[in-house]
Amino acid sequence: MSEKIQAIRGMHDILPDHAPRWQHVESVLRRVMGAYGYQEIRLPVVEKTELFKRSIGEVTDIVEKEMYTFADRNGDSLTLRPEGTAGCLRACLEHGLLHNQTQRLWYLGQMFRHERPQKGRYRQFHQLGVEAYGMAGPDIDAELILLCRRLWRELGIADKLELQINSLGTTAERLAYRAKLVAYFRMHVEALDEDSRRRLETNPLRILDSKNPALKPIIAGAPLLTDELDTSSREHFDSLRRQLDAAGVAYVVNPRLVRGLDYYSRTVFEWLTESLGAQGTVCAGGRYDGLIEQLGGKDSTAVGFALGMERLIDLLDDPGRFDRAALPQAYLIAVGELAEARAPLLAERLRDTLPGLRLQLNCGGGSFKSQFKRADRSGAEVALILGDDEARDQTLGVKSLRREEGQQTLSENEAIAFLHSLI
Ligand code: HAM
Repeated sequence: MSEKIQAIRGMHDILPDHAPRWQHVESVLRRVMGAYGYQEIRLPVVEKTELFKRSIGEVTDIVEKEMYTFADRNGDSLTLRPEGTAGCLRACLEHGLLHNQTQRLWYLGQMFRHERPQKGRYRQFHQLGVEAYGMAGPDIDAELILLCRRLWRELGIADKLELQINSLGTTAERLAYRAKLVAYFRMHVEALDEDSRRRLETNPLRILDSKNPALKPIIAGAPLLTDELDTSSREHFDSLRRQLDAAGVAYVVNPRLVRGLDYYSRTVFEWLTESLGAQGTVCAGGRYDGLIEQLGGKDSTAVGFALGMERLIDLLDDPGRFDRAALPQAYLIAVGELAEARAPLLAERLRDTLPGLRLQLNCGGGSFKSQFKRADRSGAEVALILGDDEARDQTLGVKSLRREEGQQTLSENEAIAFLHSLI
């Protein structure tokens, strides 16, 4: 036998026994997106490498070391998308969707980052992304946060998530702040680790995000970006806060909240949990007003977020209940020539009469004993048993697979009424 080929590290199969919990979450997401008037956009998984370099930023972790980049056959440099914001904006600009109009969009799909895999961090993972274009005010920032809150409530995980918000100001404000920050960290350069020293030259704001506990006191003393905000950025942030307060959204202002992607300006936010260990950021996003122009569009505004589906699903209480609820309710066993000929016709009739019934038909023959084994393994609640006698009499044996109960013989109409009670 030849050697089995394994999946790539950090890229996981979602096996059929767990697919229903994904389907459940996806159906809630779709419903909530519809409730706010957001439309789905489906985007390619591969884009030109240049798109990510220009948007996420050359000196971010993602672009520097995490992208799956390859040359295609004609030598173009392509990249498996590490996130969806850049591709979504590229598509909107390409198809003129932002021409004198606003857009509220969402997408769902695989993203790829060559990170060190651990629980909650994968090389292929799934995001729901939500992007809103052409609305400059904080009302849309607040809407996205309320939309998130509704998602958490509908998924029953609202009490496990904390919202943190911050304002990163405009590009000009950030530049002024950057100079102050660099001056401050230069005074403490001996205490910085190697990574932070490198970032001091390239992306000093990211030092604030360092996970190194030794840097905590220095970071705590660093100047605050919020102190550099001008009146209009401050007013944007204050107005967002007022709207969140009015809607009863609990949040923490975290002046150290920076993001790992360069395109953000003004509002940024993250939903965090303590329930998942190190990978506690379930959902993150913010405003990225400058990016549209940076990607060749007319000056306009944008705000959005993405949530990690794997982390979200890990937060569900008893996700197995969704998996169990998707198992077949009935398994049809047929033994004998007449019975085997009749079984598929009967199964179709039952499916016609009972929409919503999940009925698995035994295929491939077998003795009663082996068919019962398969019925049990299917997870079904009951076995429907068709022998030649039943096929002749137009009756059906019914036996619970989960409880110690004897087998009953029912007419087809009685069987239909019984199956109806299982749906
Ligand atoms: P991000 O913070 O890079 O933002 O990712 C958003 C979420 O995706 C994270 O909070 C996390 O839940 C999940 N995630 C990220 N990397 C991984 C990984 N390696 N394994 C599992 N889950 C992961 C963005 O991607 C932005 N595009 C969000 C955005 C949209 N901003 C504006 N619009």
